[in-house]
Amino acid sequence: MSKVILVTGAGRGLGTDIARQALAAGHRVVATGRRPEQVEQALGGPQDSLLAVKLDVTSLDDAQAAAQAAVDRFGRIDVLINNAGNFVAGFFEEITPENMRRQIETNLFGPMNVTRAVLPVMRRQRDGHVITISSLAGVVGGEFTAAYAASKFGLEGWMESLHFDVKPYHIRTTVVEPGYFRTELLVDASTTWPEPTIDDYAERTASTIKAWKSVNGRQPGDPAKLAGALLAIAGQEQPPLRFVAGADAIEGVSAKARELLAQAEASRELGGNLAYDPTA
Ligand SMILES: NC(=O)c1ccc[n+]([C@@H]2O[C@H](COP(=O)([O-])OP(=O)(O)OC[C@H]3O[C@@H](n4cnc5c(N)ncnc54)[C@H](OP(=O)(O)O)[C@@H]3O)[C@@H](O)[C@H]2O)c1
Repeated sequence: MSKVILVTGAGRGLGTDIARQALAAGHRVVATGRRPEQVEQALGGPQDSLLAVKLDVTSLDDAQAAAQAAVDRFGRIDVLINNAGNFVAGFFEEITPENMRRQIETNLFGPMNVTRAVLPVMRRQRDGHVITISSLAGVVGGEFTAAYAASKFGLEGWMESLHFDVKPYHIRTTVVEPGYFRTELLVDASTTWPEPTIDDYAERTASTIKAWKSVNGRQPGDPAKLAGALLAIAGQEQPPLRFVAGADAIEGVSAKARELLAQAEASRELGGNLAYDPTA
């Protein structure tokens, strides 16, 4: 069935694959990006089912204008795919406070802005589906990913809670945790590499940047296949709350689940008996 799908960050990377496949499947697509002309070009030029709109996700005004443009053109929004994001890399102490804020602004407040703009449309319809691309780093923290993981862990808590808020209006939510996919995320246009500023970290920073850069172009996941899987999920009447994408991510999330269980059990003796005792 043809749906109206709004996707952010559609000018390159995973967002382009999603928009391209959605158009090929007969959906009407609101493909958004900071440079709408680049978005339209990436998708093969103007076409009846395509509306390319300027949307910098850090701007609530842009988000509201894009949602309005979608309704003006196609009358509704069935699926929102919060895809746009970037990567501020580095050890916590070498990530400047400004870059930390920029990371949260794009990866966490960005999807919140767009969702805030789209939810009134979906509530009016009493129907909709919000899909947000988190990351394996939204479940598992790791070296050099303090900023990125903080933003993606934030997404996880927000999306898991949003589910309850909007469920009564038949709006479904899915948070997606991809492992490594071969997009442009690790190129300089998408990744902010840290300036080595602290002697203690200097060698680790240099070698970790080198290691991350060597992953670029060799990531195991195929974004075209992920786009296909996301469109399959967008077509489900009862989509999953969480979708773990890629064998590496499934392994990582499973290991984290086991670790959480073990940590909860290990907390029982000291943490399980802390109830307030009014008689003491
Ligand atoms: N690739 C992976 O291995 C991987 C793994 C886990 C999660 N993810 C997540 O997957 C999503 C897609 O990333 P990708 O892998 O496709 O990376 P990508 O190739 O670098 O594409 C990122 C996209 O986000 C857009 N973007 C960045 N900041 C934006 C802003 N303020 N407003 C609007 N658009 C903005 C970029 O547009 P511009 O051209 O304007 O910069 C670009 O279209 C991200 O949320 C990322 O965190 C990726």
